[in-house]
Amino acid sequence: MDNNREHWGSKIGFILAAAGSAIGLGNIWRFPYLVGENGGAAFIILYLLCVVLVGLPLVIAEILIGRTAQKNPVGSFRELSNHNPFWVGVGVLGVLTGLMIHSYYNVVAGWSLGYVVESARGSFQHIGDPEKAGILFDQLSASWTWSLFFSACFMMFTIGIIYFGVIQGIEKASKIMLPILFLLIILLVIRGVTLEGARAGICYLTKPDFSAINGKTALLAFGQVFFSLSLGMGALLTYGSYMTKNEKIVSSAVSVVVLNTSVSLLAGFMIFPPLLALGMKPAQGPSLIFNILPVMFNSIPGGYFFRIIFFLLLSMAALTSTISLLEVITAFVVDEFRLSRKKASVILGGIVFLLGVPSALSAGRLENFTILKLTFFQLVDFISANIFLPLGGIFIALFVGWFWGMKKAIPNLLEGSVALPGFIVTIWSILIRFVAPVLILLIFLNSLGII
Ligand code: TRP
Repeated sequence: MDNNREHWGSKIGFILAAAGSAIGLGNIWRFPYLVGENGGAAFIILYLLCVVLVGLPLVIAEILIGRTAQKNPVGSFRELSNHNPFWVGVGVLGVLTGLMIHSYYNVVAGWSLGYVVESARGSFQHIGDPEKAGILFDQLSASWTWSLFFSACFMMFTIGIIYFGVIQGIEKASKIMLPILFLLIILLVIRGVTLEGARAGICYLTKPDFSAINGKTALLAFGQVFFSLSLGMGALLTYGSYMTKNEKIVSSAVSVVVLNTSVSLLAGFMIFPPLLALGMKPAQGPSLIFNILPVMFNSIPGGYFFRIIFFLLLSMAALTSTISLLEVITAFVVDEFRLSRKKASVILGGIVFLLGVPSALSAGRLENFTILKLTFFQLVDFISANIFLPLGGIFIALFVGWFWGMKKAIPNLLEGSVALPGFIVTIWSILIRFVAPVLILLIFLNSLGII
């Protein structure tokens, strides 16, 4: 093993950092608005199925590649494939996908940071209905000075942490922030489901109407599984490369997946009961949480403070995710081009910020600039989350299941967890070799209208 490589400081270090990467805007911002646009409970069931059949087995596979090779995504594929250019290309695709995701993710993260400041200024104090909150959101996000200012600030925080080295920073930050975020969400769920008229929202989330499901919604559910688990572009692989060989991969993966899924479900129960109780439509798109949450706090005693804390925690949850995005790119450049970590993080952070500018302007000046009926922001989101991540997922499954092969994968998986029951290994091999690649392929073909 490479003794110079930094490793997590404690056994739970990996779980916290990976859960920190997974839990973020994907759970609280993206999941609820997708549920709202794609049929509620039916979408959730589809999502959960994808998590179990495809998400979890691939999380295990990705961590396994990283822990075995102890390198960045490109270096890991190169080493384990014996310099096969195709697989090196898969690593490169991952790094590029990370760049794309980070560029628009940083914009939304900037919005949540901006909401901390607006909450503190009392901008939402007297807003009683989500429609008015929506108008304010449109004004704020359409102002390019507002959104670029906060996305620049956010990028500086991300660079700051990567600059000073990742392990202590990420571990510590996640250890403190995740539990508080969890508690606050639970508080909001309790508030939401006890509001008068909350029943409609609870039904919306629990009574499926399967007629809402088609190839497109299935693709979106898949994309969301990958996005939310930080899967398919080498983030988990990179974090796995900081793991020592006496840590258990499967149980760590299960913990991360369970934590991440519970936060998404809780976010659903936090948003929809109050939304429907206030007579709003679920299909509001990416502005959903920014319309409903500021208002909700006005119905809670001490709402002014809770609102500030909530958006602060949301920003921090986003920060533990952006760290993982920038870390992948930085690890790649540091390993492959021998640049110093400090230089690499500043240059790459700057590039990602600039790439995000058209996404930031999509809410305002570039609102009417559309490609395939999507704004620039929506286009980058769609291509990276719904095409590149699942594509990365197929490649990871094919790599571990067929190219590198189970004969090498299984002994490496068992290192550090000899007591893993045989049937779990068998189920995992079947899911990785057959179920995951076939399902992803079917969904791709279906959404392209081929089957
Ligand atoms: N999973 C994070 C979220 O839900 C976002 C994220 C961080 C991500 N790292 C990633 C998404 C890598 C895809 C790939 O907010």
